[in-house]
Amino acid sequence: MKTEFENILEKSFAYILEKLGKEQVDNYKTLMAYYRCAMMEIETKFNVLNEEFSLALDRNPINSIKTRLKSFESIKEKLQRKGLPLKVESIEENLNDVAGVRVVCSFTEDVYTLAEALLKQDDIVLIEKKDYIANPKENGYRSLHLIVSVPIFLAKEKRYMRVEIQLRTIAMDVWASLEHQLRYKKENEFTTQMAMELKKCAQLSAELDSRMDALREIVGNRE
Ligand code: GTP
Ligand code: MG
Repeated sequence: MKTEFENILEKSFAYILEKLGKEQVDNYKTLMAYYRCAMMEIETKFNVLNEEFSLALDRNPINSIKTRLKSFESIKEKLQRKGLPLKVESIEENLNDVAGVRVVCSFTEDVYTLAEALLKQDDIVLIEKKDYIANPKENGYRSLHLIVSVPIFLAKEKRYMRVEIQLRTIAMDVWASLEHQLRYKKENEFTTQMAMELKKCAQLSAELDSRMDALREIVGNRE
């Protein structure tokens, strides 16, 4: 039985093979393998930090880690939307979010502690940071986004790959997941009323986070 991932890859290859030829397909396969390695590196780094902080804190700062590789369809759509050439080299040059790692944390403080600990590591290069927690997006979306470059060690070379990391709390993840579902299920844009309601929900989730943060501090101080 093939995994869903293998099925998608196969379909993607058939498609680009038709459009671009065998050499590009081989290059594409290699590039995607590199991105998977980079995601593994980042995931491991967070797992290591989780182990370490769990000992110090007596609780897990990380609730879950998810990785995703952008599908060929989405890569193609993004390159076309940006008016960029549909070539393998163009992917690595222009896209920052082919490899994505989402780290769902327990508390807001954990988001910043983990981000800081990762960025202090001497093999990680920060390319871009967007703090949508301190400055939520207009629709209410909150998360800390990092684009980093991480080395993967191959047999004959060390290669830096870019990875998009999204760090958020459980409450932020609930909002973002549901908003995403609502947005993608329907073709229609949100009405003003719906957008206002979603923003209200985002504010409620922010309030939940700050109240839980306050509780965590009280509990922490008792020990
Ligand atoms: P893209 O080109 O769409 O990736 O946007 P960008 O380059 O401006 O990046 P940004 O950091 O704003 O967003 C990157 C990713 O964060 C998206 O692909 C989503 O996964 C997530 N994201 C950003 N805004 C929202 C939002 O309003 N709702 C949800 N659910 N997710 C969001
Ligand atoms: Mg994106």
